[in-house]
Amino acid sequence: MIIRTKDELKGFLCPSNNTGKTVGFVPTMGALHQGHLSLVQQALNENDLVVVSIFVNPTQFNNPEDLQRYPQNLEADVSLLKSLSPEVIVFAPAAKDLYQETISAKAYDFGSLTQFMEGQHRAGHFDGVATVVSLLFDAVNPDCAYFGEKDFQQLRVIQTLVQDQNLSISIVPCPIARNADGLALSSRNERLTEAQKKQASLLYRVLEQTQKSFAHQSLEQLRKSAKQAFSDQIDFDLEYFEIADAQTLTPAINIASGKKYRAFIAAHFHGVRLIDNLELN
Ligand code: PAJ
Repeated sequence: MIIRTKDELKGFLCPSNNTGKTVGFVPTMGALHQGHLSLVQQALNENDLVVVSIFVNPTQFNNPEDLQRYPQNLEADVSLLKSLSPEVIVFAPAAKDLYQETISAKAYDFGSLTQFMEGQHRAGHFDGVATVVSLLFDAVNPDCAYFGEKDFQQLRVIQTLVQDQNLSISIVPCPIARNADGLALSSRNERLTEAQKKQASLLYRVLEQTQKSFAHQSLEQLRKSAKQAFSDQIDFDLEYFEIADAQTLTPAINIASGKKYRAFIAAHFHGVRLIDNLELN
């Protein structure tokens, strides 16, 4: 079932035959792949009703070209979702319906969570994400919402948004789905050939090497080796490599016992911006 407006969605979710049922929600921008579907499957396993939103949110794109080139294919997305379960409710609103008068982002303060990595390199991105996710939460009113660790910084931002606004939504983190070579699945990968995808798994290999060496190398050595792995690869333009505290997302200065750390990476490769991250301890 495809629902196009907030009113229609409320009308569908409110009637008495749906009251008391738990609602799981998976927000997406479409161009669905197995990564998205793993979130939807988890939501189906854990809830009575599942809503998947498909909305390419203009306010989170800091690069107009990236927005313009973002892959869109609602029909293919709907048939993929139907193959998981015919019961999935697809919410695909128009920008005007979701945002009402002004299609713009609110300004948020997420402190250190948005100061580095994606926050540093994509100005305004997390304001756009938080704005649209707030609007979507309002429309869907879910019990649980599923977010991939692929966008780990986004996941932390949404956990904080829910906490700050006292929303009674449980945020469920989901593991990163990868292809056989380790490349994190992404809608933007559709623009790469199979051979390029093989090459693109360099990001994962560097993260994995960092994880293996984490216990016995200094942060400086780890950062240096990761950057070196990209320095002789002319097809890659490394945007950042960072090792950060998984809670605050601040770059690690030293390793404190009892804390969790993650490595984060972003690189441009044949016109596609790739991101990935991996838990280190
Ligand atoms: P999108 O990039 O479509 O991703 C939707 C959800 O799928 C996000 O929670 C993302 O982390 C997750 N996801 C994407 N690739 C994944 C992978 N390989 N493994 C596991 N999960 C993966 O993220 C967004 O859309 C938008 O910012 C959104 C939250 C919908 C707001 O517009």
